[in-house]
Amino acid sequence: MPRPIEALIHRSALAHNLARARRAVPDARVWAVVKANAYGHGIERVYEGLRGADGFALLDLAEAERVRALGWRGPVLLLEGCFEPRDLELCSRLDLWHVVHHACQIDWLAAHKTQTPHRVFLKMNSGMNRLGFRPEAYRSAWARLDALPQVDEISLMTHFSDADGARGIAHQVGLFEWGTQDLPGERSLGNSAAALRHQVGGDWVRAGILCYGSAPDFPAQDIRGWDLQPAMTLRTRLIATQQLAPGDTVGYGSSYTAREPMRIGIAACGYADGYPRHAGTDTPVLVDGVRSGTVGRVSMDMLAVDLTPVPQAEVGSEVTLWGRGPQGSLLAIDDVAHAASTIGYELMCALAQRVPVHAVD
Ligand SMILES: Cc1ncc(COP(=O)(O)O)c(C=O)c1O
Repeated sequence: MPRPIEALIHRSALAHNLARARRAVPDARVWAVVKANAYGHGIERVYEGLRGADGFALLDLAEAERVRALGWRGPVLLLEGCFEPRDLELCSRLDLWHVVHHACQIDWLAAHKTQTPHRVFLKMNSGMNRLGFRPEAYRSAWARLDALPQVDEISLMTHFSDADGARGIAHQVGLFEWGTQDLPGERSLGNSAAALRHQVGGDWVRAGILCYGSAPDFPAQDIRGWDLQPAMTLRTRLIATQQLAPGDTVGYGSSYTAREPMRIGIAACGYADGYPRHAGTDTPVLVDGVRSGTVGRVSMDMLAVDLTPVPQAEVGSEVTLWGRGPQGSLLAIDDVAHAASTIGYELMCALAQRVPVHAVD
């Protein structure tokens, strides 16, 4: 009998969330962002649910090869462009569009021998200060690219630092508009938060986290509010129960002490499965679809849950760590992430290799 933990990837949720992105920015084409192995969901597993996108945006060449191997003939964008000159060979061979964010990438292109000119997305650093040309240097980078026979079409792109927060995007949009004034080409502006909160995407919105059913601005807004559905469920079962007397402690470090008699369950999930070790007591879980909380420290292969709200729970009861539970119950990954002082992105990306994953409708 295998250990009872498993993750489910819900194709219908991915398709629903993609449609939600289209509703947010109806005039934009949608990149489904599938970097980091589709935010931990698995590129091959999400493909069916996200193939209605206009293109796939990702980071590395190996992932681009996987998308092409699935039969995708449409646009594929390398969000950080090439890491070294020979990457351009594969861009030519697989017809990949790539970001140009640094002068050295223009040098590499100028030296690249190709029959087919490339489509590039020239990135402006409008305030994130990670990648891109500053607004005052943008036009000359564009002119250099425009003069290259290796370059076909130049699209214009930037990335927002605060689309999910109070500072917003107006200051960066202003700089982008100033720096790109009168330049021809399609624009790619927003991520999930820009699309949902500001209805901004440009001609090509880059939708990542929303596709996977996590609210980019939690706790200001949650997935119900944004009409998103969890694309990943992590679930397991109780493998033991314990009756505690007042004064009994739970787990390593005895960080939890029972104040009154209580029953706890031991679930087959721990930090070696990708569950956050720093999630403290009361991190939400569902037991047989009923909301409860964790108790004490998370260990490598197990965690303890309070059975007070589910007295009928027994060995074999279903424990939902996040996602869809039984009888229509739901636990957003954002609730768990928030309790563990992190974000949904990190939890989904951290799903461990040892967890069996099944794509379902
Ligand atoms: C350049 C770029 N565009 C789009 C995205 C997608 O962002 P999100 O997952 O918040 O939609 C990312 C993700 O970090 C990114 O780096």
